Amino acid sequence: MAAPGYTSLLDDGEKLSRDALAALQLERLQTTLSHAYQNTPHYKLVFDKAGVTPADLKSFADLAKFPFTTKDHLRENYPFGFFAVPREDVVRIHASSGTTGKPTVVGYTKRDIETWSSVVARSIRAAGGRPGMKVHVSYGYGLFTGGLGAHYGAEALGCTVIPVSSGQTEKQVQLIRDFEPEIIMVTPSYMLAILDEFRRQGADPRKSSLKIGIFGAEPWTEAMRREIEEAFGIDAVDIYGLSEVIGPGVANECVETKDGLTIWEDHFYPEVIDPETSAVLPDGEKGELVFTSLTKEAMPIIRYRTRDLTRLLPGTARTMRRMEKVTGRNDDMLIIRGVNVFPSQIEEQILKVPALSPHYLLEVSRPDRMDELKVLVERREGAAETDMAAAVKELKHHIKTIIGVTATIEIAPPEGLARSLGKALRIRDLRK
Ligand code: DLL
Repeated sequence: MAAPGYTSLLDDGEKLSRDALAALQLERLQTTLSHAYQNTPHYKLVFDKAGVTPADLKSFADLAKFPFTTKDHLRENYPFGFFAVPREDVVRIHASSGTTGKPTVVGYTKRDIETWSSVVARSIRAAGGRPGMKVHVSYGYGLFTGGLGAHYGAEALGCTVIPVSSGQTEKQVQLIRDFEPEIIMVTPSYMLAILDEFRRQGADPRKSSLKIGIFGAEPWTEAMRREIEEAFGIDAVDIYGLSEVIGPGVANECVETKDGLTIWEDHFYPEVIDPETSAVLPDGEKGELVFTSLTKEAMPIIRYRTRDLTRLLPGTARTMRRMEKVTGRNDDMLIIRGVNVFPSQIEEQILKVPALSPHYLLEVSRPDRMDELKVLVERREGAAETDMAAAVKELKHHIKTIIGVTATIEIAPPEGLARSLGKALRIRDLRK
């Protein structure tokens, strides 16, 4: 549970008992289903087709009667077909690019922006942030929800925001050294680029003003957490979210436990389903995360299939449930000679080998009928080239014994692989 005295900082939603929360969720689910049914043609169509009406939701179990929403549904209604309020009431648009096809567009009313800001403020506080602290935001500003989402949340908490956005790594480091922020919000992979730049400038990252890093928008492992925490001497906590549900701030780790992410369940109702059969799984079982928004006006979202894999866990630092760190997406799963492999599993093995850096890329090819995996990984700065044969052997061994696949390893020199400014590209797919 939270440290004594800490609970006084929590907002009203976070202080709800489990019973009060459940009652609120059920009421908000009913309101959201009605709002969606009455105002979004897509929901009217698919509810009617499934033979359900909002009045059929009497308990949480009834939610399973309602159809799922997917990214394709949003694309089919591009750009504004999912809006459930008059367009003039939408004060903000965001969009997620995706790798193929049209972007998915999301909209927010004034109240939605307030809701979003409040859950991001809550997330920053859960990470240890307090009013008055300076927050350096390196998530990209623009259609991506990271920059503006973090920005509004930090302001709502009463912090001083430094809206740097992504890129210009040299300047990022200069600004951190000059403005002395306590908090940084950035993708974990770009934090590594910032780390390299600190060293390039001859500055000791452990002596920087930073105390807290709030990292998300992509999967990252416990091994990566240790790497970043040790390099900077900070607490690194995980923030999760997706544009279709609101943006960053759907769930966040509490710094006092660092045991998975507390889902802000008074605004987002989670389910975990079997990705094959679509059956709802009991808490504790791993599957695909599905969200229904509970308070959104402009774009209520019903049973959105995130494609993210995780499990639901009981609350610890809060009464709200947690989700295990998302270590992979359905889309990122590689099948290498029958074995399912996620990039994060490889990341974990790489970070066990001291001579290798956390900069890596997986190359998948299918020369024959089977997928083959090549791991390209940078030698760590300062590690001897002569140690590389042993490092390759060690990594290959870990991957074989722990993950169960045979990979070829290629070592790149330090800075030899492209750096990401936002979400890292971990897979180069040569099969297509
Ligand atoms: O990435 C929102 C965000 C911005 C979250 C900043 C956190 C920080 P999208 O671009 O719509 O939104 O991408 C959403 O990114 O379905 C996950 O696959 C992945 N993702 C987001 N946060 C995490 C995380 C933003 N903490 C997609 N761990 C999601 C693992 C994450 N994956």
